[in-house]
Amino acid sequence: MRQCSPSAKRGSKILDTRPDVETVRSYTQAALDVIATERLSPEQARWVVGETLDGFREHVNPGFLEYRKSVTRGGLDAAVEWADSGPSTFVDVNGREYIDCLGGFGIFNVGHRHPKVIAAVRAQLGRMALHSQDLLDPLRAMLAKAVSLLTPGALQYSFFCNSGTEAVEGALKLARAYDPAKQTILGATKGFHGKSFGSLSVSAKAAFRRPFGSMLPSVEHVPFNDLPELRRRLHTLSAVGEDVAAVILEPIQGEGGVNVPDDDYLPGVRALCDEYGALFILDEVQTGMGRTGKMFACEHWGVWPDVLCLGKAFGGGVMPAAAVVATEPVFSRLFDNPFLHTTTFGGNPLACAAALAAINVTVEENLPTRAASMGEYMFAGLREAVRGYEDIVVDVRGKGLMLALEFPDDQTGFAVAKAMFERGVLVAGTLVNARVIRVEPPLVIRQDQAERVFEVLRESLEALRRSTKTVP
Ligand SMILES: Cc1ncc(COP(=O)(O)O)c(C=O)c1O
Repeated sequence: MRQCSPSAKRGSKILDTRPDVETVRSYTQAALDVIATERLSPEQARWVVGETLDGFREHVNPGFLEYRKSVTRGGLDAAVEWADSGPSTFVDVNGREYIDCLGGFGIFNVGHRHPKVIAAVRAQLGRMALHSQDLLDPLRAMLAKAVSLLTPGALQYSFFCNSGTEAVEGALKLARAYDPAKQTILGATKGFHGKSFGSLSVSAKAAFRRPFGSMLPSVEHVPFNDLPELRRRLHTLSAVGEDVAAVILEPIQGEGGVNVPDDDYLPGVRALCDEYGALFILDEVQTGMGRTGKMFACEHWGVWPDVLCLGKAFGGGVMPAAAVVATEPVFSRLFDNPFLHTTTFGGNPLACAAALAAINVTVEENLPTRAASMGEYMFAGLREAVRGYEDIVVDVRGKGLMLALEFPDDQTGFAVAKAMFERGVLVAGTLVNARVIRVEPPLVIRQDQAERVFEVLRESLEALRRSTKTVP
């Protein structure tokens, strides 16, 4: 095993600021060697752990080592992941297996490394990895057609990008371009749409926004799931000539704590948008692709948006892929000059191959229906598991396989996530609301795995109760 410490290189930089190319070559070669290794030896595993900890401390962000403590077991070793081991499981560098109930925050709907997605990406990789950028790339056209066939309402045109954040940026720009006389965009409290300036502006969490100063102008927030307040705000803004360009919402708030709105909310928002001439943007980056028991969560309420944002599971759990999908009247603002909004890598052939396969698998394996039935099973199982621990678990909620457990405070949620990880189940807090931990497994999770999750949850709650009782 070649040894090469980046910290040593840092030290030598103090004496000589020229890059030490031989160190760069040998270090990258050492990394390539472990990438090419099918099974790590104990020595290689130790090297990987050392490099990971050093790399995060010295070159990524030492803060992650602190924040990753819920997935820390036996020191930090176990927090270093290495390989998928099944559709709903993965292993750490030491070969310990975990049931994935985080699902990469909603990436792995079709499961980890679905063979059809891997095959599509491999085949495309063997032929052409990235596009010329100048000729017409066929997979982009096929994917856009598939998305148009899959999505509800009059959604027809797609712009492909690499992340949910970019999809939201695209949606906001489309909304402003649709009618430049209308500038105001309304988001919701507890909403989360990403962390670029535009997407952060429509997101809600103060702690994520405050350090970065002023946000996009003419963005306001209304309370989620409050139709009378939305009506009041639209009325007031219209009365003072600040017409609203768009309302952007998640149909079920993910990072805000898995908040399912009342049944009349989304239909009511749609009606208000129509009344006041505002576009309705639905961010289904997390709820889309079958997660909630329908292909798109808006289908639960029969509501179709003017603009839809997709990401996460859209790339089949293999490639980063996202999309902003719009009706023809909205998207046509880009027809005259398609270069108004572009990206080099968005819609690249590998991502399109993965997304086409993800759509195919989701439909072929009827995953939305599976999410609905498995969701009911897991919802009931989680409720049963927390029975008798109502002092620790305040609520179990969700739709389909977008489930969550709420605790009285952040620390309890954190302690339960940690205890579950120690017993081989990965769950994690939501970004805006740390009191809530999500249970978002691949939609293909097996019943026996779900039962193990219930067992682990119960054991973790019991362990927590015992440990708090022993504290003097
Ligand atoms: C609803 C929603 N929108 C947008 C985003 C941002 O997506 P990404 O992290 O891929 O940029 C997220 C991420 O959690 C999300 O949940």
